[in-house]
Amino acid sequence: MSNRLLTVEGLTTEFRTERGVARAVNKVSYNVDEGEIVGIVGESGCGKSVTQLSVMQLIPNPPGRIIAGKVWLDGADLLKYKRDSREMRGVRGARMAMVFQEPMTSLNPAMTIGRQMSEVMTEHLKISKKEARERSIDMLAQVNIPDPGKRADDYPHQMSGGMRQRVMIAMAMLCRPQLIIADEATTALDATIQAQLLELLYSVVEKYRTALVMVTHNLGIVARYANRINVMYAGGIIESGTVKEIWSKPMHPYTQGLLRCVPRLGEKLRPIRGMPPSLINRPGTCPFLARCGERRENCYREPATELTHVEGQHSTACAARLGRW
Ligand SMILES: Nc1ncnc2c1ncn2[C@@H]1O[C@H](COP(=O)(O)OP(=O)(O)OP(=O)(O)O)[C@@H](O)[C@H]1O
Ligand SMILES: [Mg+2]
Repeated sequence: MSNRLLTVEGLTTEFRTERGVARAVNKVSYNVDEGEIVGIVGESGCGKSVTQLSVMQLIPNPPGRIIAGKVWLDGADLLKYKRDSREMRGVRGARMAMVFQEPMTSLNPAMTIGRQMSEVMTEHLKISKKEARERSIDMLAQVNIPDPGKRADDYPHQMSGGMRQRVMIAMAMLCRPQLIIADEATTALDATIQAQLLELLYSVVEKYRTALVMVTHNLGIVARYANRINVMYAGGIIESGTVKEIWSKPMHPYTQGLLRCVPRLGEKLRPIRGMPPSLINRPGTCPFLARCGERRENCYREPATELTHVEGQHSTACAARLGRW
């Protein structure tokens, strides 16, 4: 039996906007075992990043606020800690680390890579500056930065986009965290570099047995690496299961739509028509209703956003598919 590392329960995050309160994350529950790779998949704007930022307690407040839910990391009740408390800062970086969508927003442009890396370690670990520098260079070598001793003295702008992404992976691994959250770490790059980086990230987490939450638009990518997949739509998880369960027997019409968007050689892509609903003043119906080719009368009446167990590890929120109506 593997040990549970992360448990997220009923996580709900809202933003105050000029037009009203937007519920970006709605009662999200999922979990990650030690050393496991879990995918979070869904279209742009469905709440993938806000979910992960909530877990890390990095939601800008105001306008954002976690209004309900629990996050447990290896037994510690994280939402009990204040966002900027010593405990929470200790968790971020040291026990779980995030690799962001755009490295330039998280690297300091005015500090060399080597110094930024050393500072992460001297903040969290009891090691000397000399040791921190040696470990930084070693980690740069592990992510295949050529001539790492010299490149450690580069500023971020002196590196290519692909190299900066590798530096992000190296930085995330510095304190040997139990969990890495990779949020669309690669989509801003071309396909070859994207593939190289995913392979690199995969080899690094395998080597250190680090758990990985992989956030992406692309079900194809997740299927290649993950053990389990959570499909998000309009702020909620609408289907969850092992890669095999989701791939061979998708239940929710949205998941089926996403699968048809995975490129296959010689086949035409069939994008899901329409747009996700507004997160402000959510309708009391199924959030996928307007885009669903299989809607039934009852789908207009109930929101049907709670996951229900299907079989094995598979669960879905689609009441119609569950045969409830
Ligand atoms: N600072 C903010 N203020 C107001 N609304 C926000 C803020 N940040 C996010 N949101 C809203 O939360 C919703 C979810 O955003 P999120 O960034 O989690 O989407 P995502 O699934 O990560 O999309 P993408 O795939 O494009 O990265 C969006 O509809 C967005 O408008
Ligand atoms: Mg995002």
